[in-house]
Amino acid sequence: MQIYKAKDYQDMSRKAANIISAQVILKPDCVLGLATGSSPVGTYQQLIEWYKKGDLDFSRVTSINLDEYRGLPGDNDQSYRYFMNHNLFDHVNIRKECTYVPDGLEPDPQKACAAYEEIIRKSGGVDLQLLGLGHNGHIGFNEPADSFPKETHCVDLTESTIEANKRFFASIDDVPRQAYTMGIGTIMSAKKILIIVSGADKAEILNKVINGPITPQVPASILQLHPDVTVVADEAALSAVTC
Ligand code: F6R
Repeated sequence: MQIYKAKDYQDMSRKAANIISAQVILKPDCVLGLATGSSPVGTYQQLIEWYKKGDLDFSRVTSINLDEYRGLPGDNDQSYRYFMNHNLFDHVNIRKECTYVPDGLEPDPQKACAAYEEIIRKSGGVDLQLLGLGHNGHIGFNEPADSFPKETHCVDLTESTIEANKRFFASIDDVPRQAYTMGIGTIMSAKKILIIVSGADKAEILNKVINGPITPQVPASILQLHPDVTVVADEAALSAVTC
């Protein structure tokens, strides 16, 4: 694992955006695996800024997002499709038809997940996968479990994730109870992985991810086995990392 220490959230975002830009410049028709949440917002803002300056071209890029709530349409402002349009896609020249998010409106989980694996396969695979880190070590919606789920699948959200996400909804009852997410195997098959982590509240879990045993109880710990992982984290998030 290559670990870069950033000063703060803004610095982390700029460093992460640099790595993503390098990917887009070196391989203009690359496949970017993207994430939602608060961690990547600054990275996307930086990419938009560079695009507007004329330094980046997304016209041949394909993007494949990690996950989506089951049951939410893309125009619901809490859907991950809406987040991606709003935070990145609407502001750069990526072709919308080349941006993929699991179909939250497909009621049949098997169909939705198999279709998504097929999209990833047909794209030739993800060149660079961007990840955020959950407080319990989750990546995508792969929560702590007894085993590592392999492919895209439907998950029941844990109470802690429902609790963490309720701030975005009118009431806790409105938080969807299920999501479609890439599996750990899907994530691990990306050629490169970039995980961004910010804040002291993620320090303990980040130390477990980097230095702890590889266990499905800390899903992101599996990244220790990936040959090309870059961690960009701010000082606060790295404060408990022992080496
Ligand atoms: C988002 C995702 C999640 C988040 C994680 C961290 O697509 O799959 O795993 O990356 O929950 O969320 P933030 O960045 O909001 O702390």
